Parts: sequence; C-alpha cells; structure tokens
Amino acid sequence: MKIAIASDHAGYNYKRELSVFLKELEQQVLDFGTFSEESVDYPDFAFPAAEAVAGNIADFGILICGTGIGMAITANKIVGIRAANCTSVEMAEMARRHNNANVLTLGARITDLPLAKEIAKTFLFTEFEGGRHMIRIEKIHSITGN
Ligand code: RB5
Repeated sequence: MKIAIASDHAGYNYKRELSVFLKELEQQVLDFGTFSEESVDYPDFAFPAAEAVAGNIADFGILICGTGIGMAITANKIVGIRAANCTSVEMAEMARRHNNANVLTLGARITDLPLAKEIAKTFLFTEFEGGRHMIRIEKIHSITGN
C-alpha cells in the first residue's frame, strides 16, 4: 500500500519513527513533511497529504500532531476523507471496520510511540465491513456532500 504521512513539529519525531515502521511492514511511504522540529502550522501539511488520499495517489493517510485533533479537523474538510483520531487499538479497528476511515490521526503528546505503532498497524490491516455501515457513510455524503 501507499501511505501518505505528514506531521507538524509536535509529530515530527513520530513521523520519522512511523515511517521506518511502515517500511519494515513493506509499505510505501509518501512523506508530505514537515521535515524538522521547527514550529509550523498543521494545516499546511494535513491538506496535501489528505488530498493525496482523496485523489487516490495514496491508499491511506497517517497524520500526526500534538493531539491528533487539528490534523483530524483539517483532513475532514477534504471531500472523500474520513479521518479518525485514534488513541487505542480498539478505536483504530472500529474506525476501519465501521467507519471506513481512510486517514488516521495520532497525537504524539497523547499516545506513546509503541502504542502509536500498534494503532497504525491495526488501522492499515483492518478491513471495512460494508453492509449497514456503508449505508451510514453514504448518508453522511448525501447530507453534507462530503
Ligand atoms: C502544536 O503546539 C499543537 O497545537 C498541534 O500539534 C496540535 O496538537 C493541534 O491540534
């Protein structure tokens, strides 16, 4: 799979670690920055990475900031993106099974790195269940246009 990854300064070290982890899992990583711990604004990195997912350049996105919240708010503005901010493996599993989330957001100041890796792995390798969950997702789109 191709994974679009991005962070702000707060998530920069997690982005580096998760990129290595994803490559160990034999996934292709498309890195949309940031590329240092210098303070930046998370929307500048969330938008291009989320657009890569929405445009089918990447299969999934992983966006990391301090809490994961700003990244989720930003990514969810893009048509076709269903971003889920997950703080547990269970949330990651359900975000895929029930919500067909295509972007995972993580909080580097909230979730420790070993757990963040497990969350990412679970997110990437859990299938959407479809069925009644697809009907609900289609309702989101029909009501909001996204
Ligand atoms: C940066 O200090 C912090 O606000 C950002 O990483 C993120 O947590 C926002 O949601």
